[in-house]
Amino acid sequence: MDAIRGTAKAELTAPVEAFLADLHARVSKVTGGSPADYIPELGKVDPSLFGIAIATVDGQIYEVGDTDVPFTIQSVSKPFMYGHALQRHGRPTVLKHVGVEPTGEAFNSIVLDEVANRPFNPMVNAGAIAVAEMMPGDTQEQRIGNMLDLFSSLAGRRLGIDEAVFRSELETGHRNRAIAYMMLNTAMIERDPNEVLDLYFRQCSVNVSCCDLAIMAATLANDGTNPLTGKAVFDAQYVRDMLTVMNSCGMYDYAGEWAYEVGMPAKSGVSGCIIAVMPGQIGICVYSPPIDTQGNSVRGIRVCQEISSEFELHAF
Ligand code: DON
Repeated sequence: MDAIRGTAKAELTAPVEAFLADLHARVSKVTGGSPADYIPELGKVDPSLFGIAIATVDGQIYEVGDTDVPFTIQSVSKPFMYGHALQRHGRPTVLKHVGVEPTGEAFNSIVLDEVANRPFNPMVNAGAIAVAEMMPGDTQEQRIGNMLDLFSSLAGRRLGIDEAVFRSELETGHRNRAIAYMMLNTAMIERDPNEVLDLYFRQCSVNVSCCDLAIMAATLANDGTNPLTGKAVFDAQYVRDMLTVMNSCGMYDYAGEWAYEVGMPAKSGVSGCIIAVMPGQIGICVYSPPIDTQGNSVRGIRVCQEISSEFELHAF
């Protein structure tokens, strides 16, 4: 993917765009999976929406399909909240509340590491809820504001919350409530679980587009500096930590097969988005709502496999 390595853009843009257009047309025919409906509001989405966006570390964007349609970020918020917690509190404090071991279990499993009583990693719901508590702010309003500032600086534009999805999660997220109370019991969280969950549900309900997420992924590829705005959002040392847990835990109980087939740190969300990062080069986002039983977008996996193979992006 020469253009993506940042050379001779004019000459090489066309081949990348032609490849993406062809890939989009071919993968549009892939069926299987269905949009998540355990959050009722998510089930109302048009399942045929399908976008692919690639952002480079020098700020070029290649896109095809539904790349400007808003959808909720869901679990793709988790690595960024983790990076923010590391940035604000440092590794030792964060590691007291969340580990870095894959679970091999579903994203919403009600399980803690029995030795340390910690959630296994920040990509599963338990770990993400513990991380949500670390968002600084004296009031809930300030914490919500800080969370939205974080995602806005990553996208390079002001983002907001999809209130309908947020309310839907709030009304039906009893499993997450069980996880939060279990962690109150083990002192992994200390504040009122409902307040912590309010922020967690809001972070999952931030509205983004496929292009926004490609830029966020490219910010990680670019050592924490947004390639569009030039704003340094994370220190490189914490980007390394984020990419490491994305690599081992970002695709939940599919993480091993993903690492084998695609070989890039990644994160998926139940709205049907997947981001993948090629450090030093590109951030990728695919959006297609039908997901498989592990919570990963069916077409998203296929697109990332093909991009990785075509351009030899596998890490090994
Ligand atoms: O906790 C939940 O159920 C959602 N708000 C986020 C889940 C999610 O995206 C899991 N990823 N595949």
